[in-house]
Amino acid sequence: MTTQPLGRTDREPLDLLVLSGSAREGSLNYRLAQLAVKTVRETGSQARLVTVRELAVPDYDGDAEAAEGVPDGALRLKELLEDADAMVIASPEYNASMPGVLKNLIDWGSRIRPQPFHGKHTLVMSASPSMSGGNRGLWALRVPLEHLGADVYPDMFSLAQGHQGFKADGTLTDEALQSRFVDNIDNFMNLVEAAKHYPCVKKAWVEYLGERPDPAIDREESGTLA
Ligand code: FNR
Repeated sequence: MTTQPLGRTDREPLDLLVLSGSAREGSLNYRLAQLAVKTVRETGSQARLVTVRELAVPDYDGDAEAAEGVPDGALRLKELLEDADAMVIASPEYNASMPGVLKNLIDWGSRIRPQPFHGKHTLVMSASPSMSGGNRGLWALRVPLEHLGADVYPDMFSLAQGHQGFKADGTLTDEALQSRFVDNIDNFMNLVEAAKHYPCVKKAWVEYLGERPDPAIDREESGTLA
């Protein structure tokens, strides 16, 4: 029997919000979000899973906002973000971009003050039956999040051929991918821990991708750059 890779268990406990951009029955991204929750909890931290369906909001309409204010789904998201040290979003890719339902939720959330995405460490991931794994959608998703001041983690996870990607226990069929998934979350949590508990490290986060030394991926550092 193979032992599943486990993230660090010696860090200060964290609270993560995990948002699935799809709530449909059998959603691949919901399953990926569930795996993220399991991975976080195995390291001794807390994770709360919500879906865009639980945070349902009407289409953004400035007149509705003026008359009725921001809808409950977006206000709930703001509360959840306030309670969380960081956010993970597992989102489908629709037509090489992000789902409208998720963008609409972000748009409503951006109308709240203080603006709830600002400064929030965020890890984005996707799953798709396609070979791209929904990765193009994540690049689209980064745009509004970064615009709103979220600290979107550089490394993203995309599961290609996701319909064949999960074992019955919810982990990934491909052991190397499963290991990479755990590493991605673990490295993200190292950053969130540092930002929360050791703020002096926070400034270095852009340079820190959390990769282990590996000759195959090391950048060449000649020291002779002009
Ligand atoms: C898709 N799908 C899709 N997949 C992909 O990899 N690239 C794409 O551009 C699209 N475009 C797209 C548009 C629309 C409107 C739909 C409904 C679907 C397929 C999509 O990845 C697949 O249905 C996933 O299973 C959706 O995610 P969930 O619901 O399984 O999490």
